[in-house]
Amino acid sequence: MTQVTTVATAPIAGQKPGTSGLRKKTPVFMGRHYLENFVQAIFDVVGSAGKTFVLGGDGRYFNDRAAQVILRMAAANGAARVIVGQGAILSTPAASHLIRLNKTDGGIIMSASHNPGGPEEDFGVKFNMPNGGPAPEGVTEAMYQRTTTITEYKVLEAQDVDLAAIGRHQLGGMIVDVVDPVADYATLMESLFDFPALRSMFANGFRMRMDSMCAVTGPYAVEILENQLGAAKGTCVNATPLPDFGGMHPDPNPTWAKALMDEMFSDAAPDFGAASDGDGDRNMVVGREVYVSPSDSLAVLAANAHLAPGYAKGLKGVARSMPTSAAADRVADALGIGKYETPTGWKFFGNLLDAGMATICGEESFGTGSDHVREKDGLWAILLWLNILAVRKQSVAEILKDHWATYGRNYYSRHDFEAIEVAKADAMFAALRGSLATLPGRVVEGMTITAADDLAYTDPVDGSVSQKQGVRVMFGDGSRIVYRLSGTGTEGATLRVYLERYAAGPSGLDLDAQEALAPVIRAAHDLAGIAAHTGRTAPDVVT
Ligand code: G6P
Ligand code: ZN
Repeated sequence: MTQVTTVATAPIAGQKPGTSGLRKKTPVFMGRHYLENFVQAIFDVVGSAGKTFVLGGDGRYFNDRAAQVILRMAAANGAARVIVGQGAILSTPAASHLIRLNKTDGGIIMSASHNPGGPEEDFGVKFNMPNGGPAPEGVTEAMYQRTTTITEYKVLEAQDVDLAAIGRHQLGGMIVDVVDPVADYATLMESLFDFPALRSMFANGFRMRMDSMCAVTGPYAVEILENQLGAAKGTCVNATPLPDFGGMHPDPNPTWAKALMDEMFSDAAPDFGAASDGDGDRNMVVGREVYVSPSDSLAVLAANAHLAPGYAKGLKGVARSMPTSAAADRVADALGIGKYETPTGWKFFGNLLDAGMATICGEESFGTGSDHVREKDGLWAILLWLNILAVRKQSVAEILKDHWATYGRNYYSRHDFEAIEVAKADAMFAALRGSLATLPGRVVEGMTITAADDLAYTDPVDGSVSQKQGVRVMFGDGSRIVYRLSGTGTEGATLRVYLERYAAGPSGLDLDAQEALAPVIRAAHDLAGIAAHTGRTAPDVVT
C-alpha cells in the first residue's frame, strides 16, 4: 500500500543555503520536519511533476535515511523517476555527470563536502541544475524564501526502497533506478585520459598513494586506479566510505591530510600522492618531498592539459577564483587564450563553462575541474596529473621547477583563523572596509599599496552582479593580500587570509613559501589588525 500524506508543517528559521547548499549540524537536519521542509521547498521551486532527478550523497551519517525520505517525497510530489547511486552513494562530480548524461531535470546531493560527518557533525543538502552545476543564487534564494512560508509537505507512506539492489524499483507511481555509482564516471574518465599510457606507467613500477579519507572517492579510486589502471593493490587507503569518515576531517590539505604529507616527505615516499574530500570534488596533490599548492596545480594542469587526449585540441580559456594566485593567468597569456577571475564558489564558473569560454577552472580551496562536468572534480585532477606525468616522464618536482622557470613563481599561501566570534570578525571587516580608500599610496613592509577594494563581480555571460566578494590589497611589486570570511563553516567565523608574491626568476624560485611570503604575512596582520580584533596571532590552518 502506498499513499500520499500531506503533513502540516511550519517554517523553520535559518534554512538559507550558503556557498554550497544548506549545511547544518546533523542533529539539526534530523530534527522534526527539518529535512522535509527544505526538500519540499526545492520541489516547490524547481517543479517536480513528471520530472527525473539524480540522487546520491557522500555516505556520511544520515545519508541513507535522508535518501529514503527524499525518495518518498519525490514520489509524493509526482516525480517520474529518480536515478540513485547504489547505497545512496554518489560523489559530487559523479552526480553532476549523471545529471548531464541522462539529460535529467537536476539532482539532489547529500553532503557537507569537506566538513566532518557523524551524529554530532555536519550534514548538507544541495540542488544541482539540469546542466549538472550547483543552483545559482537566484534559485537558492527562492528555495530559502519558500522555507519561510511553507505550511505543508507531501510524503508517500511506503517501505524503504532497497538501495543495495542495482536495477529498477517502483515507489508508488515513481521509478527508482539504482545504478552503480562508479561505472558511468569511470567511462567518462577513460574518454578523457590515456588509460593505456597510465597502465604502462603503473606496470613499469610507478607508485602512488591515494588517500580517500574514509569518504566517497574510495570506491571510485579503487576501481579506476587499482582495478582499471593496475596501480598496486593497497595504493588506495582509507578507501571505504564511513558514516563518520573514521573520525577524520575529510579536507585534503596539508593539515588534515597529514598522514599523506608525512608519507610523501619520508624515505618511503612513492612517486605521487593525492587525497580527496568528503564528496570527492576537492583534491590535493603531492610529489615526493614537494607539496603542490592548488594555485600552482591549476597552472600546471592548464599548461599541460593538451597532453591528455580529452584536451588535445587545446583549451578555450582558464578561469580561477579571485583569491587563487595569478599563476594560471600567466599560462593563459602564454597560450593566448581567455583568462577569467570570478568570486569564490564553483557556481561562478558555470556560465563560463556553459558558454564555452573556459575549459579548465580552479580554486585555491583545492578545487580543480573542467567542462566535462559542472562541479570541481578531485579524481579528474588526479588523473590529469597522472596523464601528464606519464607523458612527460618527469617527477612532480621537475615539472614544478620547469613551470616556474618558464612562467616565474607566484608564491602563495592561505592562512585560516577558525571559530572566531562572529561579532569580532564582523568588526574587523567593518574597520578594514572602512580603511580601503586610505590605503593606496601607503607603504607597508617596504611595499607600496597600489589599490585596495572589495571585489564586485559582473558575470560576463548574464551580466549579474555579485558585491562584496572579498577585500583585496594590491602592491606595486605584484604582491597581494586578500581577506574573506568563509561561507562554508558551521561554527563561528573563519577568517581566510590569502597571501601572494610574484618572483620572476631566474633566481629566487625555490624558497620556502612561508619564508618568501614573510613580509606579506606581516603586512596582512598589520593592515587588518588581526590580533587586536580577534586576539589571534597565528593561523590554525596553513595551506
Ligand atoms: C566550496 C565551494 C568552492 C569554494 C569553497 C570556499 O567548497 O564549492 O567552490 O571555493 O567552498 O569555501 P569557503 O569556506 O572559503 O567559503
Ligand atoms: Zn567537497
